[in-house]
Amino acid sequence: AYTLKDAAAATGRVFGAVVPAGLLGVADYTKTLDQEFGQVTPENEMKWNVVERVRGKFDFAAADRLVDYAESRGMAVRGSVLAWHSQLPGWVVNISSGARLLTALREHIAGVAGHFRGRVDYWDVVNEAFGDSGARRNSVFQERIGDGWVEEAFLAAEAADPTAKLCYNDYYTDGFGPKSDAVYDLVRDFVARGVPIDCVGFQGYFNSDHRVPADMAANLRRFADLGVDVHLTELNVTGSGEKQAKAYAVAVSACLAVPRCTVIAVGGVTDKYYWNAAKTPLLIDADYSRKPAYFSVLDAL
Ligand code: XIL
Repeated sequence: AYTLKDAAAATGRVFGAVVPAGLLGVADYTKTLDQEFGQVTPENEMKWNVVERVRGKFDFAAADRLVDYAESRGMAVRGSVLAWHSQLPGWVVNISSGARLLTALREHIAGVAGHFRGRVDYWDVVNEAFGDSGARRNSVFQERIGDGWVEEAFLAAEAADPTAKLCYNDYYTDGFGPKSDAVYDLVRDFVARGVPIDCVGFQGYFNSDHRVPADMAANLRRFADLGVDVHLTELNVTGSGEKQAKAYAVAVSACLAVPRCTVIAVGGVTDKYYWNAAKTPLLIDADYSRKPAYFSVLDAL
């Protein structure tokens, strides 16, 4: 049977999904995961509040299960995430000095990226550093360390795992606009100054307020022209039926139009376990039936 990962591979691309470790024991789920997907993104298992809930005491049990699983099946691994304002343990939020927070950030990245050294294909090093206006998001890192926290994270990731591809990842950056312009300026500056960055992730959250933009391919292309790869990292489209299918096809086609768009990943394997209010934003429904969106993506590939 022709599958998402086979169709993507035929274009030189990887097709992935966000996966929670808790479902690796569910046979229907893993059957579909194994058939259709060639890359795994841990849903929460690599986030700071899971891997370093207590300072310096790393717990990789759940993340290791996902990485072992992916490796045993020849799937790529997308590490998610090293530095993000959300899902932080209290001890990080409570560090009031910028210098001490930067030390904690560096040690965190050294600990996590170091643990998985050589086994993670792509790291989302920094996630969601910008607000929708294009200004830096007001996070603990931004407030206490200042603009430099983003490049500090990339430098620490490079030191910890020199072979992983290092990505910046964000949402609502799919088309041209103040937010994607801000990410673009950051990447251009990093490339110009030699700060290590290999890829930019576009999460791809689409709904009636955020439709797939007509200029998505052009936007992906301008990033690629900076010399980085571009990835769709957790595609999901609110809705159902043909409308949802059409939106998926447009987003996937935008990636296909750009040779450096090398990874397409969706926010989960099946609607059955989807985490947010969008409820049915994926390609496969709660009964593991392929939806119109599944076939439209397969057709587009
Ligand atoms: C989400 C997880 O999927 C949920 O299980 C969790 O409750 C909240 O975080 N952007 C990202 C992801 O980069 O890491 C987030 O994941 C969704 C938004």
